[in-house]
Amino acid sequence: MNYEEALKKLRDYGQEHVLAYYEELTEAEKESLLSQIELTDFSVLASCKGDRQALQRGKISPLAAMQLPEIEAKREKFQTLGLEAIRKGRVGAVLLAGGMGTRLGSDDPKGMYNIGITREVYIFQRLIENLMDVVEQSGSWVPLYVMTSDKNHESTVAFLKEKDYFGYNRDYVTFFMQEMAPASDYDGKVYMEEKGKISTSPNGNGGWYSSMYKWGVAQKAMEDGVEYLNVFAVDNVLQRIADPCFVGAVVEGGYAVGAKVVKKCAPDEKIGVVCLEDGRPSIVEYYELTEELMSAKDENGDPAYYFGVILNYLFRISDLEKIREKKLPLHVVEKKIAHLDEKGELVKPNEPNGCKFEQLVLDMIHELDGCLPFEVERNREFAPIKNKTGIDSVESARVLCGENGIVL
Ligand code: UTP
Repeated sequence: MNYEEALKKLRDYGQEHVLAYYEELTEAEKESLLSQIELTDFSVLASCKGDRQALQRGKISPLAAMQLPEIEAKREKFQTLGLEAIRKGRVGAVLLAGGMGTRLGSDDPKGMYNIGITREVYIFQRLIENLMDVVEQSGSWVPLYVMTSDKNHESTVAFLKEKDYFGYNRDYVTFFMQEMAPASDYDGKVYMEEKGKISTSPNGNGGWYSSMYKWGVAQKAMEDGVEYLNVFAVDNVLQRIADPCFVGAVVEGGYAVGAKVVKKCAPDEKIGVVCLEDGRPSIVEYYELTEELMSAKDENGDPAYYFGVILNYLFRISDLEKIREKKLPLHVVEKKIAHLDEKGELVKPNEPNGCKFEQLVLDMIHELDGCLPFEVERNREFAPIKNKTGIDSVESARVLCGENGIVL
């Protein structure tokens, strides 16, 4: 793209200020900025202007989860089926590690955070140790795909290499990068990170499969015979990955996707709940739950929207292929965005000052035909680290690790 073409594209979206410093740039910087303009999707910025309402929802009704007593009764059968699928190489795992972890407040990728007390225990290490349990049980390596972003790719790859993948077999680890979206002020004007660089942030965890495909990693997985992908968040240090029992339940039921869920500990707990939306599986975010939905009861007198997702899903790839081109809803998230001010000086705000645009993995569920919500014991499988202290923090996760006999 040349200067005139770039200017035209920017004019169409009211973003001409992006070229304000063009004449001051070196030839290489000019080229890089023009290419960034070419690749950036400025249409997302429209979502920031005007009224930023919650996305429109359809009619919500309950979706029953497979609960612990039923799982216990069928455990052996599910385990056998799951282990067989793992041994045949039909199951891969996808680590979503492209986020910025801003709440944790470390400049390093979240997985590099050391949660140890008496020794070093990194978040990545905890996850790999959990996956190793399945490797030992099944006697086979589970292909591990790690999604990073432009902001943390190099440090993530270098760290895992330096730590020798915490004992995981390098041949089974593949990296791919997610895409970025522009970040803007509240009027939808993109911020500049440098004079020759538009400010961007990772485009949310919902783009994981299309990014995996763009990198050719999904195709390779399919060629290798992988049929299911267990997608999981970097920050739950008790996460069970490629859990044979969960795999067996999803395979046996012929579901397009399974979602690990936990009983909510309070009606207003900040996790999304599984439900049906216009008769299709869906997840409603906690801030979209009305009083009426929070107090609704099912036929047993239990809360009708009782089960929250923990960002651990098992997707069948053939179903993901059907929705690969689909555009997911765009969520506008207020964040602190470092940027150049009018004088061209870098500002690092302490309060949110603009919008980032994200697609979320939970919105993929609504596109699929059948979902199995699969209950797990929250104290054994759910220790998310979002903050340093308080709820969902390094502190709370350390306590839960202790309860599960993990020495930190
Ligand atoms: P969070 O929603 O907690 O976001 O991510 P975050 O960016 O890590 O943290 P904050 O909000 O800035 O504090 C949930 C999971 O989704 C991944 C994260 O790495 C984490 O595993 N994620 C999130 C991505 O892979 N890409 C993204 O763009 C966003």
